[in-house]
Amino acid sequence: MKRIIIALIIIMVFFTVTWAQMRGMMRGGMHDISPMQYQQERFSEEMHISRGGQLYDNWWRTTVDTVKPGEDHPLWKMQTTNKRRGYATYRCKECHGWDYRGKDGAYSKGSHYTGFKGVLQSAEKMSLKELEAVLKGFTNKEHDFSKYVNDEDIADLALFMKKGLTDTNKLVSSDGIPVKGDPNAGRIIFMNTCMHMCHGGVGTMINFGDSGKPEFVGTVANENPWEFIHKVRAGQPGTRMPSAIINKWSEEDINDLLTFARTLPVEAQKISMFRRMMGRMGFGMGHHESYIPVKYRGYGPIIGELGM
Ligand code: HEC
Repeated sequence: MKRIIIALIIIMVFFTVTWAQMRGMMRGGMHDISPMQYQQERFSEEMHISRGGQLYDNWWRTTVDTVKPGEDHPLWKMQTTNKRRGYATYRCKECHGWDYRGKDGAYSKGSHYTGFKGVLQSAEKMSLKELEAVLKGFTNKEHDFSKYVNDEDIADLALFMKKGLTDTNKLVSSDGIPVKGDPNAGRIIFMNTCMHMCHGGVGTMINFGDSGKPEFVGTVANENPWEFIHKVRAGQPGTRMPSAIINKWSEEDINDLLTFARTLPVEAQKISMFRRMMGRMGFGMGHHESYIPVKYRGYGPIIGELGM
């Protein structure tokens, strides 16, 4: 009898230890939480800020449950200079700018000029509650975005306003020239983070424009460095592009990357044979002419219980 009990105890201990080890292995070796859980706990706020930045860029593409409005934004009639129509008039960036300075920033001239004010200074002074109130139309009912996005989206937008905005004047001059920046350091960041699977060796693997008027990493870096900074920090809506906010890159990292990206080709015709080959690096045999623009929605940072 005694022997049977001892044998049973040994078997039980054996199974408990094996089970615990298997569980540990499944969750990623030595740690008792999965990398996804770890990211969600450790970087939760950064993930919400980055998502808020993507909503600021393009809330329809960042979400899966919203409807794209067909008509112009109710506030659009207050201006006549910017001729865009429809959903474009609902993007926060169209009225407040990629540099968050509105009429006092890069959109102070050109086809994007609206005369609407910036949010950089006011967001600093306002509380999260006040920012949410502005977005829900409490201060001006025509600025009510709760008709289009849900409460969590509003909260992420307010959080981005409060903690995610950056003063781009610290990074680039008023003409968009990086104030400092080491292209060699930027090249390393580009090689490690942007090249593989996505933008290719010279940033031409994804054409954000079309074959008639292509737009590559180099084009955005040169023509709209404020947009470049915003998208590098927040990530591109509807894609799995990494976010410098979540990755906690420094301002120096971003400026190094921008300085390097400004050396990349801006037009397909200007790409030499050698650079065409480089352009394919890290992306099988595809190349810039065969790219189909991204049609997806909702692939922001994974927040909540979706992960393992
Ligand atoms: C069609 C243009 C337009 C769009 C799109 C727009 N805004 Fe505004 N926003 C305005 C105007 C105009 C005001 C000033 C309203 C007022 O004070 O009556 C304003 C005010 C604000 C303010 C308060 C600033 C202050 O100084 O009081 C914040 C914050 C803000 N917007 C954030 C956003 C965010 C975030 C989005 C995207 C969800 C957005 N806005 C989309 C035009 C726009």
